[in-house]
Amino acid sequence: MSKTIAIGADHAGYLYKARLIEHLKSKGFEVINVGTDTGDSVDYPVFAEKVGDLVASTQAFCGILICGTGIGMSMAANKHKGIRAALCTDLVMAEYTRRHNNANVLCMGARIIAYEMAEMIADKFLETEFEGGRHQRRIDLFDK
Ligand code: RB5
Repeated sequence: MSKTIAIGADHAGYLYKARLIEHLKSKGFEVINVGTDTGDSVDYPVFAEKVGDLVASTQAFCGILICGTGIGMSMAANKHKGIRAALCTDLVMAEYTRRHNNANVLCMGARIIAYEMAEMIADKFLETEFEGGRHQRRIDLFDK
């Protein structure tokens, strides 16, 4: 499987994104950074769409999106066909959205959780496998 992760943020999340990119690279992942990279105000759906495109086209095996709360990014990313974006604020959510929902985009809020927690959540999300079985049947219903 590709080890490429697509990552994006708005002005509220770009500092966490910068730190997370270094962390992910140190763990051996390739990272496609779609921006933003400054504190200038931007519109988060633009970055959610870019990450969604990269994941849906399998250029990246998963995506990470960071805004102030993580809510706007998750709403925008979930409009994209083939994207199952999950807003996570703790390790249990990160683990179960992989095991049960096969989430392919992780959303986090830089104004909600500490950076250290964001890093731990990302690690948990990336190391946890989907269980398949009855959970596959349930996520198949998303497209019906
Ligand atoms: C930006 O101020 C803020 O609205 C955005 O980062 C995000 O929290 C939206 O859900």
